[in-house]
Amino acid sequence: MNTAIILAAGQGTRMNSQTAKVLHKVGNKSLLQHVIDASRPLVNSINVIIGHHSESVKKTTSNDDINWVNQKEQLGTGHAVKQAIPHINDNLICLILYGDVPLIKTETLQILTDKAESSGFSLLSVMMENPFGYGRIIRDSNNSILSIVEQKDASKDELQVREINTGIMAIRGSILKKYLKELEPNNSQGELYLTDIVEKAVKDNVNIASFICESVAEVMGINDKNQLSQAERAYQQNKASDLMSKGLTIMDPKRFDCRGELSFKDDCVIDVNVVFEGDNDLGKNVLISPNCIIKASKIGDNTHILANSIIENAVIGSNASIGPFARIRPETKIGNHSKIGNFVEVKKSSIENNSKVSHLSYIGDSKIGNDVNVGAGVITCNYDGINKFQTEIKDGAFVGSNSQLVAPVTIGKNATIGAGSTITQNTPDGQLTLSRNKQSTISKWKRPLKK
Ligand code: UD1
Ligand code: CA
Repeated sequence: MNTAIILAAGQGTRMNSQTAKVLHKVGNKSLLQHVIDASRPLVNSINVIIGHHSESVKKTTSNDDINWVNQKEQLGTGHAVKQAIPHINDNLICLILYGDVPLIKTETLQILTDKAESSGFSLLSVMMENPFGYGRIIRDSNNSILSIVEQKDASKDELQVREINTGIMAIRGSILKKYLKELEPNNSQGELYLTDIVEKAVKDNVNIASFICESVAEVMGINDKNQLSQAERAYQQNKASDLMSKGLTIMDPKRFDCRGELSFKDDCVIDVNVVFEGDNDLGKNVLISPNCIIKASKIGDNTHILANSIIENAVIGSNASIGPFARIRPETKIGNHSKIGNFVEVKKSSIENNSKVSHLSYIGDSKIGNDVNVGAGVITCNYDGINKFQTEIKDGAFVGSNSQLVAPVTIGKNATIGAGSTITQNTPDGQLTLSRNKQSTISKWKRPLKK
C-alpha cells in the first residue's frame, strides 16, 4: 500500500492566532485531521511534516498511525518533502498533501493515485476565476504539462493561465527521490520548490498525468480566518446535501450545522438553525424545531424536540416531547411518551415512560419512574454546597407544584405531594404528604393608606 506525506510545518502567520494553523477547525475537526482522514483509506503509512507548534499538533491529532517528521527550518515545500525521504518506498506511490487544504476528498485522491500507478506522476489542478497567488500549470500546444510557475516567478503571459496547482500530487517514490535531489533554491523566495520537480521530470520525458478538480472548495487552502469561514460553509453545504440525499429533510441547508456525524431513519425533519455536535442518532420521524443544539445524543422514533432546546449526551426515548426552552444535560435518559416542558433543566437523571415534567423545574441526580407527574416549579435540592444527593420518585407519584424535594429523599409509589411542600423525609406509597403552614385570614386587617 502507498504512503502519504502531509505538509504541516508552516507558521500560518495570517491566522493571527496562538493556535497552529492546521489545528484550526472545520466542522469541529482540525484541518490536519480532515486531511489525515481523507488519505487514510488509500495509504498504510502517513508522514506528517511538522515545525511550528509541533508539540500541540502532535498532542491534538489522533496519533496511532502517524509518523511525525520534524522540519526544523521551513525552507520550502521541496525541502519539507525531503525530510520524509527515508520513509518513502521507491516502488510505491507517494501522495503529497497539505495540512491546510482540508476538504480534499478520498475519491479525488483515489483518481490521482490510480493515474500515478500508470504514469508514475500525477498532479491535481483546478481552474480558478482569480488565480492570483497560486502556482500556474504551464502546458504545451499538445496540452502536455511542462512546468509549474509560482506567482512570484511568472511572466506576464504565464500570469494569464487560470489552471492552478493545488499542490496535491501522487508520485512514484523513485521518481520523487530522483528529482528532489536536484532541487535548487534559485527562485524569488530562495526556497526549494517542490513544484520544480515537474519541469525536471518533463525534461527526462516522464509523462505527467493530471486531473482537474471540479470543485474549487475541495482544494482551497486556508491562510486566514476569511478562508476558514468559507471552508466551514463549504463543508456544511456538502454535509447538508449529503444528508438530504440520504433522505433527511433540512428546512434550510444554509442554516444547518453538523459538527460530527449524524445518523437518522426515515422522515426526520430539521428546522432552521439547528446545530448538531459530536455523533448523534435520530430514530424515524423525529422533528427538531428551530434553534436547538443537539450534542452526542440519541433520540427515539416520533419524538419532537421543540424550539430553543439544548440536549447534551442524553438518550431520549420514542414519542417523547422536549421543550420549548428545555435543557437536557449529560447522562440523562428520558423514556418513551414522556414530556419535558418549557424552562425545565434535567441533569444526570433518568425519567421512565409516560412521565411529565412540564414547567419550570430543576431535576438533578434523580430517578423518576413511570407515569409520574411533576408539577410546575418543582425543584430537586440535590446539593448541600459540598455533596450531591439522589432523589427518587416512584411510579405513579404526583408532585404538586412549587415543591422542593430535599435529597436524599424518596417519594413513594402513587404518593401525592401537596403543592408548595418542602419534603425532607421519604414519603409513603399511595398517600398524600404535605408540609405547609395552615392558611389564615386576618379579618380586621386594613391596607395602609398613603400619608
Ligand atoms: C504552494 C505551491 C503552489 C500552489 C499552492 C497551493 C510550491 C512552491 N508552491 O504555494 O504552486 O499553487 O501551494 O496552495 O510548492 N510548508 C512546509 N514547510 C515549508 C514550506 C511549506 O511544511 O518549508 C507547508 C505549509 O505549512 C503549507 C504548505 O506546505 O501547508 C504550502 O506551503 P506555502 O508556503 O503556503 O506554499 P504556497 O506559496 O501557497
Ligand atoms: Ca499556501
